[in-house]
Amino acid sequence: MSAHPQPRPPRVTVRSLQARKQAGEKIACLTAYDASFAQVLDAAGVDVVLVGDSLGMVIQGHETTLPVTVSDMLYHSKAVARGLDYSMLVVDMPYLSYTSVAQALENAGQFMKQANAQMVKLEGGAEQAEIVSQLTQHGIPVCAHLGLQPQRVHKIGGYLVQGREQAAADAMLDEAQQLEQAGADMMILECVPQALAERITNTLHIPVIGIGAGAACDGQILVLYDILGVSKGRIPKFSRDFMAENGNVEAAVKAYVDAVKTAEFPGNEHVFG
Ligand code: KIV
Repeated sequence: MSAHPQPRPPRVTVRSLQARKQAGEKIACLTAYDASFAQVLDAAGVDVVLVGDSLGMVIQGHETTLPVTVSDMLYHSKAVARGLDYSMLVVDMPYLSYTSVAQALENAGQFMKQANAQMVKLEGGAEQAEIVSQLTQHGIPVCAHLGLQPQRVHKIGGYLVQGREQAAADAMLDEAQQLEQAGADMMILECVPQALAERITNTLHIPVIGIGAGAACDGQILVLYDILGVSKGRIPKFSRDFMAENGNVEAAVKAYVDAVKTAEFPGNEHVFG
């Protein structure tokens, strides 16, 4: 054993994420829902750990994320927070928990105060600009989420790629800019054609994280259970089973981080045209 243990790297912050974008260093993100997995992700150097409302599907076994409540998110976020030392903790605002500024402040405030969240994430476009503005003005960093928004699955009519037509692509770029101007600190793009994701990433100043959005994004996020090959049914086209390739959880997570950092993931087989 070394007499001089390695100093721990400093905690990831909005400023260090911004610096990674400026330096062209890819940002590795994953979801987690409990302290034990959070610890593994933290030790592997995952930059951002999201307590996603995907927990409604992968933990609770629902068909969609819609049944997830604020108290579900609080319970899992508090557990994840106990496992983190390095990674930034981002907590998803669940369905209908941010329908007004007052409600968004109340619920996001609980994640910040009770679960040590460093950022909250919410789905939606320009219609969320006022809420993003108010949250950030109250010191709550916000990650916006454009493209496929699972909380709108019934309105969209399925889990479908978004922004394929020129008008929809232009509208998404415009909404991304409005959210950045409103104060968003980060953005997730889910299931959008890679050319559009590249356009948005190159236009925005904040880090843009892709899931099914191609390699040009500033970073990548996947659902932990998908990369560990334990999700119900087939894993999505944009994901990869790192467990099958690496044999144990620690090695799988580390391989994912390395693959994102070296831009080896996502490959052409994981993107939409
Ligand atoms: O809920 C979630 O896990 C998410 C990610 C898939 C981006 O929103």
